[in-house]
Formats: sequence, C-alpha cells, structure tokens
Amino acid sequence: MKVMAINSSARVGKESKTEIVLDHLVKGMREAGAEVDVINLQKKKINYCIGCFTCWSKTPGHCIHKDDMSKELFPKYVESDLIVMATPLYHYTVNALLKTFIERTLPVAEPFLELRDGVTRHPRRHPQKPVVAVSVAGFPEYSVFDELSSYMKYLFKDKLVAEIYRTSSEIMSVMMKEGKVKEALDATVQGGRELVQSMKISDETMETINQPVSDFESMAPMANLYWQTCIDEKVTPYEFKEKGLAPRPNSLETYAAMMQMGFNKEKAGNTSAIMQFLFSGDVQGECYFKIEPGQFDVVAGKAESPDLTIATPFEVWMDILTGKADGQQMFVEQKYTVEGDVSLLMRMNEFFGE
Ligand SMILES: Cc1cc2nc3c(=O)[nH]c(=O)nc-3n(C[C@H](O)[C@H](O)[C@H](O)COP(=O)(O)O)c2cc1C
Repeated sequence: MKVMAINSSARVGKESKTEIVLDHLVKGMREAGAEVDVINLQKKKINYCIGCFTCWSKTPGHCIHKDDMSKELFPKYVESDLIVMATPLYHYTVNALLKTFIERTLPVAEPFLELRDGVTRHPRRHPQKPVVAVSVAGFPEYSVFDELSSYMKYLFKDKLVAEIYRTSSEIMSVMMKEGKVKEALDATVQGGRELVQSMKISDETMETINQPVSDFESMAPMANLYWQTCIDEKVTPYEFKEKGLAPRPNSLETYAAMMQMGFNKEKAGNTSAIMQFLFSGDVQGECYFKIEPGQFDVVAGKAESPDLTIATPFEVWMDILTGKADGQQMFVEQKYTVEGDVSLLMRMNEFFGE
C-alpha cells in the first residue's frame, strides 16, 4: 500500500504536535508493511489556486502553475492508495497551507455538474482515494474539531476512513512518556497498523486515540502561568524552551500544581519525607510536600512533624525555582531559613530534575 502522508504544520520536530501524532501513525503503517511518503508542505512551493479553470478547460487535468504541487504532489495524490491529511487546528479548521493544497487538487474533478446523493457535485477525473484526517488543537474540548470534522466529512464523504483529533496538544511535550498521552500515542501507532490491514480503525482503538488527556481545570492554571512568564520574560515559546525557563508560580495553588507536575518519582526512589514551606511576603501561607516511595503530594497547611521546614518570602523561593537566584547564595544571605534535615534541600534538584 502506498500512503501519502501530508503534514501542513508550520512547526517542525518536537515543537510540532501535528508531527508527533503523524509520526506515531506512520510508524504503525510502516510496521504493517505500507510504503509511506511523509510530505512537509511548508518545505514545498505551492502557489495559490488563481481560479483560472485552465485545469478544467484548456489543459484538462493539468494546472497552469509549474510548482511542486503540479510537478510532484498532485501526481502522488492521485496515485497513492491512501491519503493522510495532518493539520494543526487553526481558528477551528484546517490551516491555510492544507487549504491551499486542497484547493490545488481541483484538477481531480471535471467541470460538469451532476447530482450525487441528492447534492450537486463534479464528476471525477481520478477516483477519490481513502483519506485519514489528523489534527491537533490546544484547547481541551473535543468540540473544537466540530467544524473541521464537518468539512472533512462533506469533502470526502464515505472515503473519509478515520478522524484522529488530539485535544490539549501542547501538553504533549511535557507528558509524552506517561499516562493518557502515552496511551493515546501508542493507540495511534496501533491505528496506523489497523488502517493498513483493513482500511479502518476499530472503535476501541479510536476511542483511546481520541480520549481526553486533560481538562480545563487542570490545564488552564499552568497554561496561563506559562504564557504570563513568556510575556514577563519577553520570550517566544521556542526561546522559553531554549533558555530552559520554568513557569513562575504566582500563588500557592500554582506552586503546588507545578511541583506536582515536576516531581520525578524515579529519582526520589524510596525517599520518605515531609518538607514544610512557610511562605511570607506577597503570597502568604503554608504547604508541605509529602514524599513517599512512588507517591508525591502537595498538601495545604502545616504538617505535624516535618523533616525539614523552609521559611521564605514567596518571591525569593520563586526566584530560586525559576533560576533567577542561586539557592545557596540566598541561604548564605539569609533570605530564607531552614530547620531540620538539610540534606533534603540538597536533593531538591534531584527530586525535580529530568
Ligand atoms: C494561528 C493559530 C490558530 C489557532 N487556532 C486554534 C483553535 O482554533 N483552537 C485550538 O484549540 N487551538 C488553536 N491553536 C493552537 C494550535 O492548534 C496548537 O498549538 C497546535 O499544537 C499547533 O500545531 P503544531 O504543534 O503542529 O504547530 C491555534 C494556533 C495558531 C498559531
């Protein structure tokens, strides 16, 4: 089976969540024996359709443009056995690059009008090949894909054999190796295999692929913190990552959420400890880390008998957390105080490191 896998994302590599999902699907397809040609549209020269209808009249089936679409992509599009169209969701639909590609497939049709299933269509010069739609979106609600899905269904009718839509796409980079994100990506590989074997994906696999991996309540506070940090530091998301920055918590809740996300259970091993924080300054309050083998919780309030107590202005601790200040230097300058098992403090980098 020859598969043409089109990726219209403007981003590349791990930055592109479209690419991550597509990579998993392609992996499964190749495992099942398909010959898959992955095409990054942003690397191709594709002019806009100019609506001249040359491809319908003067040179039937051939576009007037002499670009990558005419020379390479259109022939591949009509010759492949299966087409995968992967796009980031932009303003609730396909992005402009994929739309440009789709518009340039006009030569597949003839100009005449005919009624098919009660609606006006054009006869086809080349039969429509089965299509798999793939998209990723930042928002957590599956309904963000409603418009895209309805467009794909109208366009490809019963030739649309699968719709792979990943919500909460941006958390994939931080959670790829665990939980529901991993489950969904593993199922996407399986979906690729099934498509090659039977030109469809079973309901069970489909459900796991498209399952929610987050919701507004767990996603929004961290996402908002992240964007606020980008704005404050005047960096793009790409620069944020390059510089190794961390979102700067602005409340006890966001501090707890961030610590919960960043704790490395493997590194902590068999450690059992309670670390108490007493915050003063702009954000006041108490919370403690309850570390147990394979388990980590941030609990609001005071613990009965903590192994270590850190009393610090919130801002000082956040400066240390985000790398703006050196923890040891701040300790020497008595910007914060510690009481109890100081070795736990020394292991903080380990507990929250990669
Ligand atoms: C111009 C633009 C429009 C977007 N529109 C939406 C949208 O309507 N709904 C949504 O949930 N996410 C939207 N997003 C977020 C992207 O879908 C999300 O970041 C996705 O991961 C992008 O794909 P990529 O990682 O391959 O670049 C938009 C992003 C951009 C840049």
